[in-house]
Amino acid sequence: MSTHLTQLLDAFDPTLPLAKARTIPSGWYFDPAIYALECEKIFGNTWQYVGRSELVAKPGSFLTVELAGQPILVVRDEKGTLRAFHNACRHRAAQVINEPCGHATKLRCRYHGWTYDLAGRLRGTPEFDGVEEFRKEDHGLPTMHVETWGPFVFVHMGAPKQTLTAWLAPFPAMTESLDLPKLQFFGQRDYILDCNWKVFVDNYQDGGYHVNTVHPGLAGALDYSGYRTVNHETNSVQISPIKPSDDPIVNKVRTGTHAYYWWMFPNLMINLYQGVMDTNWVIPLGPDRCRVFFDFYFTDVEGEIAKRFNEASIAVAHQVQLEDIGVCDEVQRGLKSRSYDTGRFSVKREAGGYFFHQLLARMLKA
Ligand code: FES
Ligand SMILES: [Fe+2]
Repeated sequence: MSTHLTQLLDAFDPTLPLAKARTIPSGWYFDPAIYALECEKIFGNTWQYVGRSELVAKPGSFLTVELAGQPILVVRDEKGTLRAFHNACRHRAAQVINEPCGHATKLRCRYHGWTYDLAGRLRGTPEFDGVEEFRKEDHGLPTMHVETWGPFVFVHMGAPKQTLTAWLAPFPAMTESLDLPKLQFFGQRDYILDCNWKVFVDNYQDGGYHVNTVHPGLAGALDYSGYRTVNHETNSVQISPIKPSDDPIVNKVRTGTHAYYWWMFPNLMINLYQGVMDTNWVIPLGPDRCRVFFDFYFTDVEGEIAKRFNEASIAVAHQVQLEDIGVCDEVQRGLKSRSYDTGRFSVKREAGGYFFHQLLARMLKA
């Protein structure tokens, strides 16, 4: 590890109590050395959400994603086994599958036509006769671990120390009564942000601190006085009582007794209201750019009434996201100000934000 990187990592002390803590230094939000380390130790070595289970439910169905510079392919083979591969052809490293999702009977690389079966074994190598010391058996697609929980598919590019369900605990048990696997996918939106992926997570993890100032519409539906954060091993949940809002649309789509905002380390957020689930999945596109996918799930997706409700719910989430993008992009510019290095945390509100920084630092330094 370079001296520069060691100094950057040492500049954050994760052992301080919240009342004395400082944030990670601003350099962690744009320094290429930190970004490279995150790609290896965070995205490359923890359970990572990669997409929806329904996309790979049937034999032959697949999904692809590029996560922190790594092309990934998840396929359900003919026998029903879910498999995940590095999506890089063993010939010249083209992506074997280019579509974001679909169905295939074999995996054919479009560059020179090599084919792999759905289990990743190399089957066809056109015009390759006479090549010495080459065995197809040695050139299958390299695998990675894959598991699903309910509507979510996760991969692990390293050696997982725990199962996905253990990693997600206590989320599966604590949301059992909401029966999340029964909710149905309705639509997706995605947004490009000119900020480091952690700025988006920090914004999510500030315990509602910015709700009244940045989200006047949403604020009307949340009883801020009862808003609280609970940190677990590798995730946390913010819980807010819901109150009647003056905005008739917000009032209609943000119902139930409580809103739950789950954050799963490092980059998946799950927002739950009665009959409504949105996932916010932030993936880095470099040190100071990221993309956020919003997936919207509802109890009911059929019929005009359900569709109108769902569209209204998405519109509320979209408005909140536009408000968040504004502050996130601005924060990224501020982090580069010569005047700013670290900030302090509100003890009352920001336990979740410090917890994120502590987990991140622990894994980067490991
Ligand atoms: S790169 Fe895939 S066949 Fe050549
Ligand atoms: Fe927000």
